[in-house]
Amino acid sequence: MLKIRRVQATDIFPVIALAYDTLPERYNPSIFNQFYESFPEGFLIAMHNHILIGFLIGIKTTMNTARILMLSVNENNRRQGIGSALLKKFLLEMKNHQIRQIELEVRTTNRGAVEFYIKQGFILQEKLHHFYQNGEDAYSMRKGL
Ligand SMILES: CC(C)(COP(=O)(O)OP(=O)(O)OC[C@H]1O[C@@H](n2cnc3c(N)ncnc32)[C@H](O)[C@@H]1OP(=O)(O)O)[C@@H](O)C(=O)NCCC(=O)NCCS
Repeated sequence: MLKIRRVQATDIFPVIALAYDTLPERYNPSIFNQFYESFPEGFLIAMHNHILIGFLIGIKTTMNTARILMLSVNENNRRQGIGSALLKKFLLEMKNHQIRQIELEVRTTNRGAVEFYIKQGFILQEKLHHFYQNGEDAYSMRKGL
């Protein structure tokens, strides 16, 4: 059974492992605890039969703006609506926090993620040249709530 919920302290280690497996960026593990402690409302996980299969981390950047920093679903569980379910719960949490706009950046080469966000109602804003450490470009995307 799929369950989407806020992260708890005991979930952090599996989240770090999933981020390492599925995302190209190499994050300092301590930042996951920092996100959990500073804005747990924006840190959501997807559990299937008590196994972590996805997570989303967002932060509040202004009184009424939030930014999605990471979204990841385990490779074997993609195209099953998990990413959509995480995002839906995140948007609901943000609405309850008077957030009116969601922003994010995504690699221009990450076609799957760009398609995913467009399907979820995000609009492409601009191309950000050399946005990532390895020199790759990003698209900035936005969605109003
Ligand atoms: C992007 C990601 C989170 C999507 O999660 P997901 O659980 O597979 O997404 P969903 O099943 O909810 O997809 C919903 C819709 O988005 C679109 N979509 C999702 N993945 C897609 C892909 N690889 N190619 C094209 N469209 C895609 C489709 O329209 C899909 O609907 P459909 O399956 O009925 O056609 C997942 O592919 C992932 O973890 N990728 C690696 C990490 C990453 O790139 N994160 C985003 C940048 S931080």
